[in-house]
Amino acid sequence: MNSVLVASNRGPVSFTVSDDGELTMKRGGGGLVSALSEVARKDGVLWVCAALSDGDRSAVRLVPGGRIDHAGYDTGPLRMLDIPPATFHRAYNAVANSTLWFVNHLLYDIPNSPNFGTRFEREWESYRDYNGAFALALAEEAGHGARVMVQDYHLTLTPAMLRAERPDLRIAHFSHTPWAPPEYFSLLPDEVAGEVLEGILGADHAGFLADRWAQAFMDCCEALLGAEVDRVGRSVTHEGRTTRIGVHSLGVDGDALWERAVEPDVESHMIALREQVGERRLIVRIDRTELSKNIVRGLVAYREFLAAHPEWHGKVVHLAFAYPSRHDLPEYREYTASVLRCAQEIEDEYGTEDWDPLILNVNDDYPRSLAAYRMADVLLVNPIRDGMNLVAKEGPILSPRCALVLSREAGAAAELGPHALVVNPYDISGTAAALHAALVMPEDERRMRRDKLHAAATALPPQKWLAAQLEALAEI
Ligand code: G6P
Repeated sequence: MNSVLVASNRGPVSFTVSDDGELTMKRGGGGLVSALSEVARKDGVLWVCAALSDGDRSAVRLVPGGRIDHAGYDTGPLRMLDIPPATFHRAYNAVANSTLWFVNHLLYDIPNSPNFGTRFEREWESYRDYNGAFALALAEEAGHGARVMVQDYHLTLTPAMLRAERPDLRIAHFSHTPWAPPEYFSLLPDEVAGEVLEGILGADHAGFLADRWAQAFMDCCEALLGAEVDRVGRSVTHEGRTTRIGVHSLGVDGDALWERAVEPDVESHMIALREQVGERRLIVRIDRTELSKNIVRGLVAYREFLAAHPEWHGKVVHLAFAYPSRHDLPEYREYTASVLRCAQEIEDEYGTEDWDPLILNVNDDYPRSLAAYRMADVLLVNPIRDGMNLVAKEGPILSPRCALVLSREAGAAAELGPHALVVNPYDISGTAAALHAALVMPEDERRMRRDKLHAAATALPPQKWLAAQLEALAEI
């Protein structure tokens, strides 16, 4: 039986299956996975995740109980749940990604959506089943008094469900997203909003990446459940139970990142990129092609910067890496199309025989991203809203001289803001001006700021981040 368990929708690895049935394993993407993978593996934590694709399902079926590590894969202890595809699809795409993600990132086009009708009722039912499958697996795997760390908006109901099964466990929930203010959160049908909040309050400890998101969660508990909130001691008491609220501002393991970033594949990408861009200055961005990342406004800001500063023509290149994400959702496919369209317009307007003002790449290539970080003069991170944003932390670790243009709506702004050029993500002219200011920043200032960004980015690496939460649970 296991004494520490982690549960999340996406696991540390994913599989693809070829036509002849051969399985290939790949590292999972996104902030949550990057943060937890190494720590979970080193500490022998059992990770419970969902099978996300046909490839994952084939891998699960190789071994009884879905223990991928028992099938000879080098993953660390890992159990994948084979949730029926239709249930999974409704829980992951319709509820988690199209509803809870949209609510917490304020992404709705309000005059037209959301619409909660009978279809949503069925989708919500699937979300309950999916959360129930996690609760059941965790209840089976956890030793007496074990500590269970449930991750993110996919699994908001699991803590309360698990507590009902196994009151002996110490349960934490962690949100890797922002949290919406009550007036926006209450777009959700009342029962759904209540179930989400009460689901998380089933945990002993509810963690957030920034104080802002923790405050918003407490505001929702107070306004929507009438719960008693202690803002100084940071706790919420509801129906006789108290949940502690924690702020754990996830950072990066700088040494491990550097170790990876000097490998030969990264070095050869650096050489190739340098050949492509010459000695021009580089403005870099690296994101999932995700609505909340605000890529289109970022491109429009770059266009405005080029219009305002002809002196930079031929002397700067914007490297924009926007790798694919959540393509089952039409909004994401449309968004990707807008990104491509906007990039093409910039190329058409400013490109010349010997100057590509913009290099947009929409394929996932981790070593190439690391190469871009190392070469960046400016890093643009301008999300509409973001739980933390690890790109803002990784960039200054790897680039010795990069100036950071950072949205004030990213959780990371709480720590990095004083040393970054902070922008309102909707203010395109402001962002364009910040790009210019970042490019002309004097060398000693950019190095001084970069050193402070580096220190802030590595303050709470994943090992310490996880340890702090485990400690908080041990005290309960
Ligand atoms: C964010 C979420 C993670 C999620 C990741 C990638 O970082 O907080 O929970 O795994 O995005 O999204 P995906 O839908 O591909 O898992």
